[in-house]
Amino acid sequence: AAPKQIRNFCIVAHIDHGKSTLADRLLEFTGTVAKREMQAQLLDDMQLERDRGITIKARAVRMAYVRDGVEFEMNLIDTPGHVDFHYEVSRSLACCEGAILVVDAAQGVEAQTLANAFAAMNAGLTIVPIINKIDLVNARVDEVLVEMEQTLGIDPSTVLKVSAKTGIGIQELCDALIDRIPPPVSELEAPLQAMVFDSHYDDYRGAITYVRVMAGKVKKGEKIRFLYTNSTHEVVEMGQFVPHKRACDALEAGQVGYLICNIKSLDLVHIGDTVTLPGDRAAPALPGYKEPKRMVYCGLYPSDGQDFTELRDALEKLAINDPSFEFEPETSDALGFGFRCGFLGLLHMEIVQQRLETESDVDLVQTAPNVTYEVVMRGGEVRMIHKPQDVPDSGNIEEFRQPIVRVSLIQPTDFIGPVMKLCQDRRGIQVRTEYLSPTRTMLVYDIPLAEVIYDLHDKLKSATRGYGTMDYELKGYEPADLVRMDILVNAKRVDALSVICHRGDADRRGRGVCKRLKAEIERHMFEVAVQAAIGTRVIARETVPAMRKNVTAKCYGGDITRKRKLWAKQKEGKKRMKSIGSVDIPQKAFMAVLDTG
Ligand code: GTP
Repeated sequence: AAPKQIRNFCIVAHIDHGKSTLADRLLEFTGTVAKREMQAQLLDDMQLERDRGITIKARAVRMAYVRDGVEFEMNLIDTPGHVDFHYEVSRSLACCEGAILVVDAAQGVEAQTLANAFAAMNAGLTIVPIINKIDLVNARVDEVLVEMEQTLGIDPSTVLKVSAKTGIGIQELCDALIDRIPPPVSELEAPLQAMVFDSHYDDYRGAITYVRVMAGKVKKGEKIRFLYTNSTHEVVEMGQFVPHKRACDALEAGQVGYLICNIKSLDLVHIGDTVTLPGDRAAPALPGYKEPKRMVYCGLYPSDGQDFTELRDALEKLAINDPSFEFEPETSDALGFGFRCGFLGLLHMEIVQQRLETESDVDLVQTAPNVTYEVVMRGGEVRMIHKPQDVPDSGNIEEFRQPIVRVSLIQPTDFIGPVMKLCQDRRGIQVRTEYLSPTRTMLVYDIPLAEVIYDLHDKLKSATRGYGTMDYELKGYEPADLVRMDILVNAKRVDALSVICHRGDADRRGRGVCKRLKAEIERHMFEVAVQAAIGTRVIARETVPAMRKNVTAKCYGGDITRKRKLWAKQKEGKKRMKSIGSVDIPQKAFMAVLDTG
C-alpha cells in the first residue's frame, strides 16, 4: 500500500483487560482469518504463553481493511505486557504511530494501564482509548471514564465503548484507527533504515527478524547490515504475517515485516538494532538502542552431576531463542558443576525455568535468586556483583550499592493501610499518593529491587484480596548497608546458601535459615552444627542432634523384601541429597534461604 494508506499500531493494556481477545476480533473483522479458523488467542503461539496468559514476545500481523473502496494496510504490532519486558515494549512502540489503550470496564485503570499508556504517550503515539468488556453486568463505564480522565487526561468523548467478546464497537474502532492515527512519514528515496523490534529462532530457517522500515526500502537478494553487530547478510526471504508468513519482494518505508537471512544464531539479532545497507550507503543508527539488562541471577544445577552436559545443551538451545537470557558455567562446593544464569526479571526467570522443565528431562536445583549489586572498591574501581560469592572482603569495599525501583501500586482506597505497611516493611520510601477516583488510590514507593523480587506481588494480592496491581521501573543504584551472610554446616561454608542482605536483617534471616536447615537435615551418626555468619562473626546457630538408632532396626527379624524396599527408598532419597563434608543436605534445603526472607 502507499504510505498514506498504512496504519501501524499496537494495543496496550493491563494484563487480562482483553488485549488478545481484541486482536482476535480485529483479525476476524478484517477477514485476515476466517471465523472458523479462529483459534482462541492466535497471537500467542506458544503454549506456555497461553498457559500464563501473558504475551511474552511481540509479533506483527498485517490486516487489510477496505473502506469506501480504499484499501488500508493495518499493521498490528503485539507488545509484551509485563514489566520485565519494558525495553522490548519501548522498541515495539517506536515502530508505531498509534496505540489502542484498552481499559477493562469492570476493573478500571490499573498499574500497567498507566505504565503502558505513559510509555505510548512518551513515544509520541496517538492514543485511541477504549473501554472493553462493556457487555459485563458489573461494567462501570462512567466511573472508568472518570479514572481515565483523572489519571491520563483523556477526554471522555474520545473513548470508544467496545466488547471484544461480542464484537460491539469493533467497526467503530477500525474507523477510528484510520481516522485518528497518522500514516507513517516515509522517505522512500533515502537509504534503508529499519528497526529490529523482535526476533525468533526457527530450527529450519534460522533467525527471523521483525523490522519496521523507517526510511528507504529493502529488496529480496540485497545485502543488509546490522549496525550494532556490524554483520552483513543477504536477505533470502522477506514478507509479512497475514497472520502466517507471506513472502514478498520488497518492504518499503512505513511497512512492518520480517527478514530471513540464514543467520544461525540470535546473537547477531538485537532488539533495537538498526538494519541498513552495507558500505557507504549506510544510514545512521536509530536512537535508543540498549543492551538487555539482566537484573536477576540464580544458579541452576543438575541434581545428578551426570546431567551436566544435558543441562548445558538445554540452556544453549534456550539462549538461541532468547537473547536476553544468559548463562555461564560455575562450580559450587555444595552443588558441583552448574550454571549462573541471568534474567531480565523474576517472571523471565520463571518462564525460562518452566521451559527447561518441559523441554528437557534434567532434574534441577535452583539457588535463591539475587539481584545485581554494584561495589565500589577502595581505590575507586566499580564492580558488578552477580552472586554472593563474588562479594569482596568488607575491608576492601568503599561502598555497596543496590538497585532501587520505583513501584506504583493501585488498589481500592480501603486497602491503602495494609499496602503502605507492606512497602514500609520492605524498606520502601514513599514518593507520593494519588487519588484516581473516589474509591481508588495509587501509591508510589521507591523500594530495593531485592525486596520486590521476593514476594511483593504475592503479598500485595493477598493484602488487597486480589484487587491490587503493581508495576515498577528501575530508578538506579543507591548506597546501602549490605553484607554477605554465609551459612556453615559443621564449620564448612555452603557456598550456594550465601546471600547478600541488609545488615539489619541479617540476624533475623540467619536465624530463619538455620531453623529451616535444621528441620530439613536428617540426623546423622554425629552432631551437625548449622551456623549463620557475617565474615568470621557467627550470628545464629542450630544443632541437629546425633542419631540414636538404626532405621532398619525396626525391620529386624521381619521379612527381607520390606527391608529391601526401605533400602531402595533411602537410595532414591540419596539422589536428591548433596554432601557438605560428610553431611547430607536435601535439595529443598537450598531454597530455605528464600523462604525465610
Ligand atoms: P494477557 O495476554 O494476559 O495480557 O491478557 P489479555 O489482555 O490479552 O486478555 P485476554 O484477551 O486474554 O482476556 C482476558 C479475559 O477477559 C478472557 O477470559 C477473555 O475471554 C475476557 N474478555 C476479553 N474481552 C472481553 C469482553 O469484551 N467481554 C467479556 N465479558 N470478557 C472479555
